[in-house]
Amino acid sequence: MAVPLIDLADQHELLREPLEAAFAEVLASGQFILGPYVEKFERELAEYCQVEHAIGVSSGTDALLVALMALDIGPGDEVITTPFTFFATAGCISRVGAKPVFVDIVPRTYNLDVEQIEGALTRQTKAIIPVHLFGLPANMGPINDLAKANNLAVIEDAAQALGARYDDKPVGSIGDVGCFSFYPTKSVPALGDGGAVVTNDAKLADKIRMLRVHGSDRGYHFPLIGGNFRLDAIQAAVLSIKLKHLNGWVERRREIADRYGRKFEDLAMTTPFEPDVRFHAYNQYTVRVRGGQREAVRHHLDACGIGTRVYYPEPVHLQPCYTDLNYRPGNLPAAEAACEEVLSLPIYPEMTNAQQDEVVAAVREFFKAE
Ligand SMILES: Cc1ncc(COP(=O)(O)O)c(C=O)c1O
Repeated sequence: MAVPLIDLADQHELLREPLEAAFAEVLASGQFILGPYVEKFERELAEYCQVEHAIGVSSGTDALLVALMALDIGPGDEVITTPFTFFATAGCISRVGAKPVFVDIVPRTYNLDVEQIEGALTRQTKAIIPVHLFGLPANMGPINDLAKANNLAVIEDAAQALGARYDDKPVGSIGDVGCFSFYPTKSVPALGDGGAVVTNDAKLADKIRMLRVHGSDRGYHFPLIGGNFRLDAIQAAVLSIKLKHLNGWVERRREIADRYGRKFEDLAMTTPFEPDVRFHAYNQYTVRVRGGQREAVRHHLDACGIGTRVYYPEPVHLQPCYTDLNYRPGNLPAAEAACEEVLSLPIYPEMTNAQQDEVVAAVREFFKAE
């Protein structure tokens, strides 16, 4: 039996009735961009995240971009982030004209190493973007303390982590502003692109709402220069239906992760780690294979029909677009090693135990044959 890395077919079959009803409603409403469906979803997301304001936007990338714009981060500013993330985290910093400053990760969690942030601070540093990678919250307590002491904004890149918690607080609500993605591989998958920004800061929320529609506050009147960062009504209607299932889906992901952990205990690979006070949402289940064996494991699983993915094969600081930042291989060794060794295995809420058993058997077969 082949097992894909992620499969939304069962989820959509289960939700077919409410989804089709929502499609019909939006079609009849005639309002396809922003409007009541988006506002409804924004209220639901704000409640879920325990924040005052949620603003639906066009993607997770645009959520980060608009957050940076709203914080007036631009040329001459530096923003600290991790090199072990999806490119968009850093790309948005550059797009507002600021400079990304990469700080290495903690190998065991793949999250930003707080101990190394202090050494990267300069007079130009304006913000930190921690990434809750794979669904595991970054070490937010110390990050917030450091940010407060140095007057920095904290933008949580929670694109992969809706449903995760730090110290029992929903991710996105812990820094000054939180950014989510509803790309179809994320924990609440839209049927296309979508994103959201959450915050408790009313002024910032107002500014983000303006920036979302080119900087307009009313009609054809533009106090700011923004962009088209609007969320579609059809996506919002889908997201409203799916958000209700999120807690159940996260519980199922955690069950699958726990079962993998037990079945892989005796194998020569590292399974994910959930430190105290962090509640992992397991958007990805990422193992680590040392000794140059990652590609061999991957090929074996591929031959067995098991879907895998390498998130991420190259760290952001060594991407060709950043050669002018003058990073060299070896500068951020923990992130570079992770890129060589990580492998994400199938995980999605509708995955059955029988499917998981296939994955486990294929992985175990590789290590037994070793
Ligand atoms: C960590 C991280 N940041 C940002 C993004 C960008 O989100 P989107 O694809 O919705 O633009 C993603 C997802 O692709 C992500 O994984």
